Amino acid sequence: MPNERIFILAIESSCDDTAAAVLQNDKVLSNVVANQLIHNQYGGVVPELASRAHQQNIVPVIDAALKKANVTKEQLSAIAFTQGPGLMGSLLVGSSFAKSMAIALQIPLIAVNHMQAHILAHFIDEEGFDKPTFPFLALTISGGHTQIVRVDDYFAMEIIGETTDDAVGEAFDKSAKILGLPYPGGPLVDKFAQEGNPNAFVFTKPKIPGLDFSFSGLKTAILYFIQKQVAANPNFIEENKADICASIQQTIIEILMDKIKLAVEETGIKQVAIGGGVSANSGIRKTLKDAEAKYGWKTYIPKFEYTTDNAAMIGIVGYQKYLNKSFETAAVISKARTQF
Ligand code: KG4
Ligand code: ZN
Repeated sequence: MPNERIFILAIESSCDDTAAAVLQNDKVLSNVVANQLIHNQYGGVVPELASRAHQQNIVPVIDAALKKANVTKEQLSAIAFTQGPGLMGSLLVGSSFAKSMAIALQIPLIAVNHMQAHILAHFIDEEGFDKPTFPFLALTISGGHTQIVRVDDYFAMEIIGETTDDAVGEAFDKSAKILGLPYPGGPLVDKFAQEGNPNAFVFTKPKIPGLDFSFSGLKTAILYFIQKQVAANPNFIEENKADICASIQQTIIEILMDKIKLAVEETGIKQVAIGGGVSANSGIRKTLKDAEAKYGWKTYIPKFEYTTDNAAMIGIVGYQKYLNKSFETAAVISKARTQF
């Protein structure tokens, strides 16, 4: 098996990005993502529009991924797709396509959990990026999830902490909305924060016991703070945008770091990997990198293109499942909500 060349076509369509990738074993040959800009004007993802856009994008995106990889569909060993969690209408587009293609080509079909994929993206073979060794802690932070996961093996994972309300991505996006920034606001908060003073404003952090998180209170605190300031000075946001963004980002980073420090203390595991769209945040990436020298941890930060939703991460799970012969029949169902 080690010398065998396995080609996996991976499809990701859980939310608002239509993505396809081709992997040869654990190496990415192509990784194509079509973002759906239609949602920007609505200030959030509109599920019905997402499904329709997936329908339009899926054939060209898969075609582009195969062409870029220089792999024909006849060479494919298996097709991997996101089974869940995600928006049902969006998931159905990717899963139906994957099923039909696997049946037509008579090759195995592999169902992948989106959150496991964010974690296992670290096992993509990339120059300059180390792969974590087991056990490690994974902090998965996205628009839909905020979890601390203990990872003992590729498929032996346990959620040891998670959000009790909003996900951290929502905290970024909702704060950005309060500041009048367009959706998705996370990357914009990050951009403005780079020019600002993170200690300019102080927001109260939630007091949630154990390893769980809460972000809804922060959003409310930011809303009241901004309303009060704007009442006194209508130009407050414009005049202080960088400082506000830097302070919000700093508070979110502190909330995440407090919990991850506690998780390291409780488990004794000093290897920390991050995944999910919010791990694209430059402040979070820097803080975690600095934690190596500061706390003696080993931290793993994925290549930028494997942090936000992508199909390469679905492909790496597909490859591992291919090695385990963990295949599905076409009767496999999509699951909007699914644990590991
Ligand atoms: O993993 P992802 O692409 O999709 C979900 O599965 O949710 O994550 C999207 C989330 C959005 O909330 C977006 O604002 C946030 O990731 N995000 C960021 C940054 N880039 C993306 N948040 C903060 N800073 C960033 N640079
Ligand atoms: Zn995601």
